[in-house]
Amino acid sequence: MQKNILLCVSGGIAVYKAVALVSNLTKANFNVKVMMTESARQFVTPLSFQVMSKNDVYFDTFDEKDSSKIAHIDLADWADLILVAPATANVIGKLANGIADDMITTTLLAATCPVWLAPAMNVHMYDHPAVKRNIAQLAADGCSFIEPSEGFLACGYVGKGRLEEPEKITGIVVDFFHKEAKTK
Ligand SMILES: Cc1cc2nc3c(=O)[nH]c(=O)nc-3n(C[C@H](O)[C@H](O)[C@H](O)COP(=O)(O)O)c2cc1C
Repeated sequence: MQKNILLCVSGGIAVYKAVALVSNLTKANFNVKVMMTESARQFVTPLSFQVMSKNDVYFDTFDEKDSSKIAHIDLADWADLILVAPATANVIGKLANGIADDMITTTLLAATCPVWLAPAMNVHMYDHPAVKRNIAQLAADGCSFIEPSEGFLACGYVGKGRLEEPEKITGIVVDFFHKEAKTK
């Protein structure tokens, strides 16, 4: 059966890679819906994700299109997996502290499915004790991480902080559902 993936896109320079990730995931036969933060929409418009996912894109907690549902609860329930990619230092910090002040963080708190985060940021941000502390807290809370890779960063630095490649993330998701199917 087709699995549902909610891709939560927060506002880092790697947002462009998230468009390719949607393309990869849909080619791998996942049903993908995309949610964006306000900052993510500074980098790429929702239209790109709408076209790639062939689904509506969500970003406004208070835009309740269907009066029979509450969108963030409905999407949290719909998802078999929530993937936050790229995950900014900001979203990581908010989730680690139970803050729910936009549609992504609100949906994440309502989720009972597995939540995976793929951090992407400047190498010094990734090394910051506050970010490390928040990641450790989320790991203790049951979230999983797709670690950033090392390499040339958009900010000009070389180091750890690049969003893992869309093909690799897709492969990890495919493996996860294969293993899950075997255990059933
Ligand atoms: C050009 C540019 C690139 C940025 N890249 C990143 C990034 O890669 N990772 C990150 O955590 N924040 C990055 N930021 C900062 C975030 O956009 C900022 O912290 C924002 O508040 C995040 O909001 P969000 O988490 O709601 O999407 C960048 C900002 C700018 C202007």
